[in-house]
Amino acid sequence: MSNSFFRKKSIEKIIADHEQGLADDHGHGGMRKVLGVRDLTLMGIAAVIGAGIFSTIGAAAYNGGPGVIFLFIITAITCGFTALCYAEFASRVPVSGSAYTYSYVTFGELIAWILGWALILEYSIGNIVVAISWSSYFKNILENVFGFDLPDHLSVGYQTAKHAYEAALAEGKPVQDMIYATAPKIAGIPFIINLPAFVIVVLVTMLAYIGIKESKNTANFMVGLKIAVLLLIAAIGIWIIFTDDLTGNWSPFLPNGMAGVLKGVSAVFFAYIGFDAISTTAEECRDPQRDMPRGMIYSLIICTVIYVITTLVITGLVKYENFKGVTDPLAFVFDSINMQKLGTFISISAVVAATSVMLVFQIGQPRIWMSMSRDGLMPKSFGKIHKKYQTPWFATIITGLVVGIPVLFVDDLLMTDLTSIGTLFAFVLVCGGVLILPRMANKPGRFNLPYINAKFIIPVVVLLFTILFWERIQLAVSNINNEGYQEVLFLVFMVVAWLIAVFSFIRNYSLIPVLGMLCCLYLMIEIPAKSWLVFFGWMAAGLLIYFLYGYRKSKLAGS
Ligand code: ALA
Repeated sequence: MSNSFFRKKSIEKIIADHEQGLADDHGHGGMRKVLGVRDLTLMGIAAVIGAGIFSTIGAAAYNGGPGVIFLFIITAITCGFTALCYAEFASRVPVSGSAYTYSYVTFGELIAWILGWALILEYSIGNIVVAISWSSYFKNILENVFGFDLPDHLSVGYQTAKHAYEAALAEGKPVQDMIYATAPKIAGIPFIINLPAFVIVVLVTMLAYIGIKESKNTANFMVGLKIAVLLLIAAIGIWIIFTDDLTGNWSPFLPNGMAGVLKGVSAVFFAYIGFDAISTTAEECRDPQRDMPRGMIYSLIICTVIYVITTLVITGLVKYENFKGVTDPLAFVFDSINMQKLGTFISISAVVAATSVMLVFQIGQPRIWMSMSRDGLMPKSFGKIHKKYQTPWFATIITGLVVGIPVLFVDDLLMTDLTSIGTLFAFVLVCGGVLILPRMANKPGRFNLPYINAKFIIPVVVLLFTILFWERIQLAVSNINNEGYQEVLFLVFMVVAWLIAVFSFIRNYSLIPVLGMLCCLYLMIEIPAKSWLVFFGWMAAGLLIYFLYGYRKSKLAGS
């Protein structure tokens, strides 16, 4: 009998369950195995390049200047460590469910549930952010290409309009023309909804419902288009920078030092979220053990190259200081040099890019729920596979509702932070999970995470970090009562980093997962503390649901 919260599923059991077709448990068939390494790489790119590079890079460039490329490289390395850990898991546990399934194997049920709950932040809440960004670019296209002016109160969320109104009131600015003041009222409440965001969620959900093959083909097409556009921008941009001798814009390369660059951490991290989403489609891969790791790493490398070039191009065409408040930086730079037509073209590709991100996330979320349902942690209906389309149809519809209803009303700022915290949390657990996986003999054709002993390297790295941040540590300690929660988070990070260093020394941990954990933890504590409070609330709600439902209904309960 196992009543422990930490009851685990063995890798052998997961694979055996899968091979016996646990899907049949629900009276339905399995899933189509159609994805190869090329599809997975394209799917990774589809999930990664989207709202981040088309929107948030503006603020990062303003704070960091051209040197923001270093942040892209640092973040890529962080994601790279994590991708290698995902790859190690994906090659050992080739079933859908991503980090959720991996932590069921290593940490047991409770942590797996917590992780599955956190992944809702990455996939569903992440998609809310992307849908909102989609909507603003789409509105621009409607205006610039079709001359159609969608009323403001139908193209922005209620909360966004309300926050803008309140901020203007607080600053004593005139508010009578603001959306919140002018929108029609129903029962005294301003009627303000983000209609385009809702419509795109419905359409993408329909596509995800119809099938993985159709979704794959659509994603591949969209990826081809967005890469082509970004390469075109790069070629035209580089040509202009050198022929018009704009290279002076790259000087100074680090106008605000590394501190300025690091201000863009959240934005740049958001731009990388998604490469892990392909691990949710393991059951639809022809050879997941070989292709999944490759797909993840190839997509990460390609995206990094594209991001670095794009950053150099935009900061070369327009001096960094002009990016204040710019949320459509790629279109903005070409508008600034009087190439508006190209700007409109870029807006169109921004819409395509955001659509492909949404599609992959809208495919990923139901597959995680499907895995949880198979384990008994979610109701059975979440695991139902459609007889004709062979997709988890019920979970897909619920995902559509979970994303589609909030996009009508919410503001994206908090959502972005929540997405990043949830994703980084998952990354930390995946890296940590690899540390406690039993070592396995190398097998040809299977991905093997290279083992480098962390024994001395990690303590030295943590020591160097401590010396580098000594002033901040002292300030945080001496002002512990006055400093906000942010510095408390920083001190907690320092304690955890030293604990990890000590354990690395004692247990000869593998270097890559440890570096992955440390980098992700550091990025997490840079996210505003008020968003952490919401994150804790979300997690508390998840725990409550587990104890009321999952703990009792789990397939492992009493087994
Ligand atoms: N990385 C994805 C994007 O930038 C989430 O849209």
